[in-house]
Amino acid sequence: MVKVITYGTFDLFHEGHYRLLQRAKALGDYLIVGVTTEAYDRTRGKLNVIDSLVTRIENVKKTGFADEVIIEETPGQKFSDIKKYHIDIFTVGSDWVGQFDYLRDYCKVVYIERTKNISSTMLRERSRRIQRFGIIGTGRIAERAVPEVTLVSGINVQGVYNPHTDSAKRFAEKWSIDYYEKKEDFFDAVDIVYVASPHETHYGYIRAALEHGKHVLCEKPMVLCRQEAEELYGYAKEKGLILYEGVKTAYCPGFSKLLGIACSGTIGSIRNVEACFTKLEKKESRELTDLRYGGSFTELGSYVTLPVLKLFGTKYEKVSFDTIRGTNGLDLFTRASFRYPHGMASVTCGLGVKSEGRLLIAGTRGYIVAEAPWWKTAYFEVHYENPGEVEKYSERFLGEGLRYEISDLLASLDAGEKNDFKLTREESVAMAGIMEKFLAGENRKI
Ligand code: CTP
Repeated sequence: MVKVITYGTFDLFHEGHYRLLQRAKALGDYLIVGVTTEAYDRTRGKLNVIDSLVTRIENVKKTGFADEVIIEETPGQKFSDIKKYHIDIFTVGSDWVGQFDYLRDYCKVVYIERTKNISSTMLRERSRRIQRFGIIGTGRIAERAVPEVTLVSGINVQGVYNPHTDSAKRFAEKWSIDYYEKKEDFFDAVDIVYVASPHETHYGYIRAALEHGKHVLCEKPMVLCRQEAEELYGYAKEKGLILYEGVKTAYCPGFSKLLGIACSGTIGSIRNVEACFTKLEKKESRELTDLRYGGSFTELGSYVTLPVLKLFGTKYEKVSFDTIRGTNGLDLFTRASFRYPHGMASVTCGLGVKSEGRLLIAGTRGYIVAEAPWWKTAYFEVHYENPGEVEKYSERFLGEGLRYEISDLLASLDAGEKNDFKLTREESVAMAGIMEKFLAGENRKI
């Protein structure tokens, strides 16, 4: 009996998939089809798969060509499947020519001619109008956003706005996008506004974008007081628009995995969270000279408070701050301590003091530890009383990570508010409230 294996996502099942399976089956007597999991697709950068794994498997089964369907979860799986199922022929479409030649040592590799003019990507784009992404601001973060957006299907970078038209023009030329001299023209030309401008301008731009009926993704910290955050979320809801705060850790797959394990009971009940993030900045940097909005807590506080709010919730009993300031009064290093009914947390961040960046979640049965850069979670460990018992988890974190929040935002356009679980509006409002409390204790006014 000749055993054949093939793999694919099989999203929005189409004629190309059907013909591929038909011809794969004709290569032998028994066909095994590997269907990718959503998590695997995300780690290999294939975002925005529309059909669920169950639907995709059902569609493959419905063709009647597959004798067996398995799921594909990891990059090295093809090799082990070939051994495990005693495969004679591995086959995929001709778009992969050459890429699986390394399997020739173990079985025959056949590239089947791909069906022309059809793909899941094409269908996904047809089923939803391409979203036009507009960027406000032309700084470092905005620079990082452009290549990330291009990796997400269903969205295109349309243009940029900056009141300093020269900067907008330079940015637009570099990335071959449009720039707009008038804010109104910019809002008219886009569907989603990415606010990557200085902190103090966030509120005004978000409000204006929502007024123009545009969805918004705003860089963290979105705003620095609770009432403004509540008002903006309320307004977005009223207008039926999506407002996302871009704390990238919240959307990264490794962090979701870590939260899932932390909340699964593996380490018992969570009692203590410690998170530290430091990043030394030059004395003359904006972060250390902007007397109203600079300093380590406004810059990095969103990252370190995120795990606390996710694991303990937004209803802390009290929060207190300890700070080391530079000569200009800005905080170089800050610790925020939280007390919850059944637990406590201590988060530290610094721009002028270097420390070990670490996330530690302690429970009644064990603890989870993730080393820096845990805010781009790629690896973490679970430890127990017995020091020899350690579980290790890893997950890919691709590029700058912005692709994850953008792809979630696109999913929210279909699913509405139900999809905001990775960073809820309550959590985002609580973050603004914590920033506000911190700044109220400082010698500065916002
Ligand atoms: N395939 C094919 N002809 C097409 C599209 C896909 O023969 N027109 C084959 C692929 O080469 C692969 C299998 O079908 O062997 C599953 O491919 P998959 O990646 O799921 O489909 P695509 O339509 O290429 O998906 P996407 O656009 O998301 O890459």
